[in-house]
Amino acid sequence: MFNELKKYTKKPKLYDPSTNKFWDDEHISKGMLSAHLNPNWDAATRKHEFLGRSVNWISEIAPSSQYKLLLDLGCGPGLYAERFSSAGYSVTGVDFSKRSILYAKEQTVLNKSNIEYHYQNYLTIDYKEQFDIITLIYCDYAALSIKDRLILLRKVYQALKPKGKFIFDVFTPLMRKDESCSWEYCSEGGFFSEKQYICLESVYQYDDEDNTELRQAIVITEETVNCYNIWDHFFTKEVLLSEIQNIGFNSFEFYGDIAGKEFSDTGETICGVFTK
Ligand SMILES: C[S@@+](CC[C@H](N)C(=O)[O-])C[C@H]1O[C@@H](n2cnc3c(N)ncnc32)[C@H](O)[C@@H]1O
Repeated sequence: MFNELKKYTKKPKLYDPSTNKFWDDEHISKGMLSAHLNPNWDAATRKHEFLGRSVNWISEIAPSSQYKLLLDLGCGPGLYAERFSSAGYSVTGVDFSKRSILYAKEQTVLNKSNIEYHYQNYLTIDYKEQFDIITLIYCDYAALSIKDRLILLRKVYQALKPKGKFIFDVFTPLMRKDESCSWEYCSEGGFFSEKQYICLESVYQYDDEDNTELRQAIVITEETVNCYNIWDHFFTKEVLLSEIQNIGFNSFEFYGDIAGKEFSDTGETICGVFTK
């Protein structure tokens, strides 16, 4: 175990993979689902009051009477999808957390909502001019490398009908963290494991062209050492524009958040609305 741990004393190479699944892990996804369902917590999803405002705003800029077919990428347990459905959209949700998709499907039965869910990596979608709106909510775009962002943008563009809208949000550089190392002992288990564990947490900054940030968690139980590498990026309006310019979108609008706040250079998030 000592040798196993020693290798984590070095800064990881850019995009070194995690040793385990994160979103789709049996235990972690349980905690993630309760975080989603807590209405007052800005953790896996935003506070539920925000979700309502966000769906209302999207219904104003792209009403379901004109923009009927909506694809929600990284839909989680369907909290937005259900609200979109109630607002009159015909909704498809994609997520690669089994637990979230299972919960979302159960809700469609309880709510008699006609939402289609797919357990799938959204980097593998292959729709052609099928949707009026595609959403990617809570800064998921930023978790992707530039290579994967371009793959996703091309797939989103292909999946949209002419005049369709891609609506998504990202964090700005204000949200970048300082490099740090810390540790925590969870005697009763916790977010990463049901067994007792020690977690060594680090934040690393990279000076690659994408100014990548890594949040790393090394989780040590009595039997195992697991490493979770969570990559992140931060965007200005100019950076977003430069990477999206060659995809083919016709117009770009920017807001301060995905509930329609006015754009500001000093905000913590940017919402992009890109029209095909
Ligand atoms: C931060 S949560 C946001 C969930 C939802 N959009 C919301 O705001 O309530 C990110 C979600 O994206 C999903 N996800 C992350 N990467 C994905 C991928 N490549 N393909 C499909 N789902 C993904 C995760 O499983 C998780 O449910």
